[in-house]
Order: sequence, then C-alpha cells, then structure tokens
Amino acid sequence: MLSEPPAIYGIIGTPLAHSLSPLMHNAAFKALKVNAVYKTFELVDDEELKLFFEDLREKDNPTFGLNVTVPYKEKVLPYIDVIDPFADKVGAVNTLVIDHQRKIFGFNTDGPGFLSHLEELKFNPKDKRIVILGAGGTTRSILSVLCLINQKPTNIKIFNRTYSKAKALVDSLSSKIDMSNVEVVDNIEDLNVELADLLINTTSVGLKGEEKFLIDTTTLHKDMLVYDVIYNPKETPLLKAAKAKGAQTANGLSMLFYQGVLAFNHWAGTDIEDKYKKVMRQALEGGLK
Ligand code: ATR
Repeated sequence: MLSEPPAIYGIIGTPLAHSLSPLMHNAAFKALKVNAVYKTFELVDDEELKLFFEDLREKDNPTFGLNVTVPYKEKVLPYIDVIDPFADKVGAVNTLVIDHQRKIFGFNTDGPGFLSHLEELKFNPKDKRIVILGAGGTTRSILSVLCLINQKPTNIKIFNRTYSKAKALVDSLSSKIDMSNVEVVDNIEDLNVELADLLINTTSVGLKGEEKFLIDTTTLHKDMLVYDVIYNPKETPLLKAAKAKGAQTANGLSMLFYQGVLAFNHWAGTDIEDKYKKVMRQALEGGLK
C-alpha cells in the first residue's frame, strides 16, 4: 500500500543547528497523529532565500507552514502576499502559512508569544516602568507589542551597545506604532534599573554563561521581574544576580514555546488543545537537557 507523502513544515534561517523548533513541532505532529514533518531549511544567503521562495510557489510543493528566524524575519516581507496587521506594524514575520493555491500569508507570533509568557508570569505591563537591553530583532517584536497593548506601560527605556541602531529601530517603528512612551538612552545609568518593574535582556551577553554584566547588578531589586530571552543556559549570570536580590526571574524558553503554539495554531487553523501544548513544552524542555 502506498502511503501519502507527509506535509512539510519547517524553519528557514541560518544558523539552525541548535534550533529547538523541530523537536517541539514534530512532537506535536506525532501526538496528533498528523502525517507531517518539520524540517530545518538552512539558507545561507539572500540568493538561497530567493530560490527557496520560487520553489515554495510551485503547485506541487508540499510545504504548508514555515517559521522564519535570523537573519530573514524582515527579508521575507517582499515574498509575502498577505501580511497580518500586527506583523505589518512590527515589520517582521516569523510564521508563514502557504495555502493550496501557494498563496503566502505572514504573521508575527514572537510579540504575542512574549505577552502570553508575561501573562503566565502574572506581570501586567499597565503603568509599569520597563527597561530593555538590546535593539535587535527580538526587541523589535517585544517593543511593538508592549506599545500596542491596552495595558500601557508608563515608560519603556532602551539601551543598546550601538545607540544609533536603537534609535533607528524606534524611529522606524514610530511610523506605524505610537512610541511616545519609549526613550532610547545613551548612557546605561539612565535606564534607572533601580526604579524599573521589568528588565528585559535581548542581547547575547550571558549566552556563554560569562560573568559579564551590562548593568550595575547592585541596581537590581526584589520588586522587579528580570527577563532574559536567553534560555540556554537556563539561568544566565544576570538571572542569578537578580535571584540573589530577591527579584522574580524568567528565561525565554516559554516565549519560544508560546510563539511556537501560536504558529502551530495558524497552520492548523484552530487552537491546539492543552494536552498537545503540554507535549510541545515537554519536548522543548527535554531538548535542553
Ligand atoms: P536578536 O534577533 O536575538 O535580537 P540581533 O538582532 O542580532 O539578535 O540583536 C542582538 C543584540 O544584542 C543587539 O542589540 C546587539 O547590539 P548591537 O546593536 O550593538 O550589535 C546586542 N549585543 C550582541 N553582543 C553584545 C555585546 N557583547 N554587548 C552588548 N550588546 C551586545
């Protein structure tokens, strides 16, 4: 008996060797008994990206859903037929749905994934003072969502090693999102971490477990949430220092989880049941052991 070839899902980006997305999504497919497989598509440059999308348009291409990661979240925009309004405001896409006519739909689930995690942590951004370290792709999504929700923070201060990049990021987002409560600071002390309710690190400092801090750790305090998007190691030196001060801490694994669940919902066209979400979370956690 001939079995149907599986539907293809996957992730495009580079480098992908350490991506946990295949584990998470393949675990869900298996649990749901869906004939589908999630693969990695390592695309080394813009030319490969272009060829990939040409191929994706082919009538017999069995790929129906993709995640997009570094460095292509903005570069895929010209290839998309229909962009979700939130993704359009962010100017970055991390999830694609491709229908049977090979029409490509783009979404951003990074921002909503972050918000879902904040909800799980019982952190309501309303009237809070938020500080962000870094101004790359992750900050783009997080900042956008924090400026679009109804529970408006009092202010959001951003510090980046390269001031001009943070300034350019906020300027570019300003054309579609009200950024009036956002301030880019040139001097890290001006973040006033001692007054912050939430500190978010989106830089790669701490990724190797190195004892290097961008901020003065004596300014961390017990009445704040310290959120490091790094999840491997599970506890960066920044999170350790925050914990030692009695602060609530969180790493970015749940943000990865929630963005994955929201991407899966787009592909399935419905909300995945809790028991399958559990399978996805366990697969992620297992992947880190
Ligand atoms: P992501 O998509 O994960 O946000 P990214 O877009 O490459 O990744 O952004 C990485 C961020 O980490 C940037 O803000 C970068 O600062 P620059 O804009 O100055 O490059 C920041 N970063 C990386 N290494 C850093 C370091 N050693 N010290 C301080 N900031 C660093």
